[in-house]
Amino acid sequence: MTTQLNYNQESIITQLFEKLKLGAEKANHEFHTFSFATIYNSVPKIRTVVLRKVDIEKGEIIFHTDIRSGKIAEIAENPMVSCLFYSRLLREQIRIEGNAKIFTKGELFEKQWLNSLPNSRKCYLAENAPSSKIDKPISTIPEKFSKRNPTSGESESGKKNFAVVTIKIEKIDWLYLRSGGHIRALFRKEGNDWLSNWLVP
Ligand SMILES: Cc1cc2nc3c(=O)[nH]c(=O)nc-3n(C[C@H](O)[C@H](O)[C@H](O)COP(=O)(O)O)c2cc1C
Repeated sequence: MTTQLNYNQESIITQLFEKLKLGAEKANHEFHTFSFATIYNSVPKIRTVVLRKVDIEKGEIIFHTDIRSGKIAEIAENPMVSCLFYSRLLREQIRIEGNAKIFTKGELFEKQWLNSLPNSRKCYLAENAPSSKIDKPISTIPEKFSKRNPTSGESESGKKNFAVVTIKIEKIDWLYLRSGGHIRALFRKEGNDWLSNWLVP
């Protein structure tokens, strides 16, 4: 016999977005980082990125990256991507599938650059592209910023390497670990609505 549990899909998706929003806002939140996966030449590629913004109305999540990094070419080849969030404390796993877009100019790009703090901008000042081979394990950020962050003006030259990636969410697979039995639901975006159904965990 199965037990009917008192969970509501509408409140699950609302709370899920609230938690992701907090993840973008608070550096110590469980959902501040996520694993971001692309496919390149049929090989899955995965890495950690910082969640920078959640747009509930558009159903988008956003992160920042270096335009010279490998993931940019991978997204250009295949914009279908996956994102994985897991919190041991909240006992939740969120798997997102969506369509990624790269922005290197425009309103969103300017806003995200403006809102980036100098310590975040620092990595865009590296002379060498991410993943380029170097002789020694040295930092490629200019020496003068090894002990201090650049000022806002000094960080401006990093803007040419900065990119904003938006992920338009198509599917969310939510899993909640419960000792009395796990709960899992699938949400799909259709127009402005989220269609949902329960899944066997
Ligand atoms: C905690 C953490 C946060 C990271 N955040 C970002 C990020 O927001 N953007 C980014 O491009 N790389 C970030 N990285 C580095 C990536 O995981 C990866 O090493 C780098 O972007 C190169 O990836 P790629 O060669 O697959 O493009 C982060 C790494 C860690 C460990």
